[in-house]
Amino acid sequence: MNMTMPSTSSVYTHCDELDRLPVKNRENWLTESSLICELLKPNASVLQIGCANASRLIDLQRKRPNLHFLGIDIDEALLSDARRNIAKAEMTIGTKHCDITSREQCEELGHFDYVLCLNNTLGYIPDEKAALANMHLLGKKILISVYTEQFTDSLAREYFGVLGLKIQKIENNRFTFEDFTSVKRYTRKEIQKWGGTMTKTILGSLCTLE
Ligand SMILES: C[S@@+](CC[C@H](N)C(=O)[O-])C[C@H]1O[C@@H](n2cnc3c(N)ncnc32)[C@H](O)[C@@H]1O
Repeated sequence: MNMTMPSTSSVYTHCDELDRLPVKNRENWLTESSLICELLKPNASVLQIGCANASRLIDLQRKRPNLHFLGIDIDEALLSDARRNIAKAEMTIGTKHCDITSREQCEELGHFDYVLCLNNTLGYIPDEKAALANMHLLGKKILISVYTEQFTDSLAREYFGVLGLKIQKIENNRFTFEDFTSVKRYTRKEIQKWGGTMTKTILGSLCTLE
């Protein structure tokens, strides 16, 4: 890896550092959080895909203490930060190592009232088709927030810059970086095909699929 590049863990940790984020990304995060808190029914079981260091899980649990959360991530280093942060917050949120694109690993998780995939996380996962199929397997209701046309090229440069990433190329709504997975931006047409309902957010859409 190029020594000037940030680590994967640090990039994903910066995604949730509200006081560092550009204003639109911060507002988007807060909008998503309020919409989700209104939607989730009391005492429900909730799975978050790509929980990173658990900062969103901790925030949601604080706002909705009667929900039962499990966070999964593919990155062991982030999961160990997540466990430390959850313990520090004195919460009992579960965490598990799991690749959302692996049907075998997902089958071991059980079934949930809701599956959350927030902050354009789906756009970071190359095998989107497998991820979506497994989300349907895992939950009754799926809430996916994605970035769409509102996340303009100039907002993207600012946001990814804060995460420590420099965009090399933007082509067909895909952001390519040096030494980091590429990230997809969605079109409204594309997410309409998922067949759910869409709620507009600051930078994109919160899609509810059943
Ligand atoms: C954009 S970050 C999400 C950060 C934060 N939890 C949020 O929602 O704002 C994407 C997260 O997805 C995780 N991830 C990427 N591919 C994954 C996969 N195939 N299965 C599970 N998690 C994955 C990454 O390790 C990272 O923590």
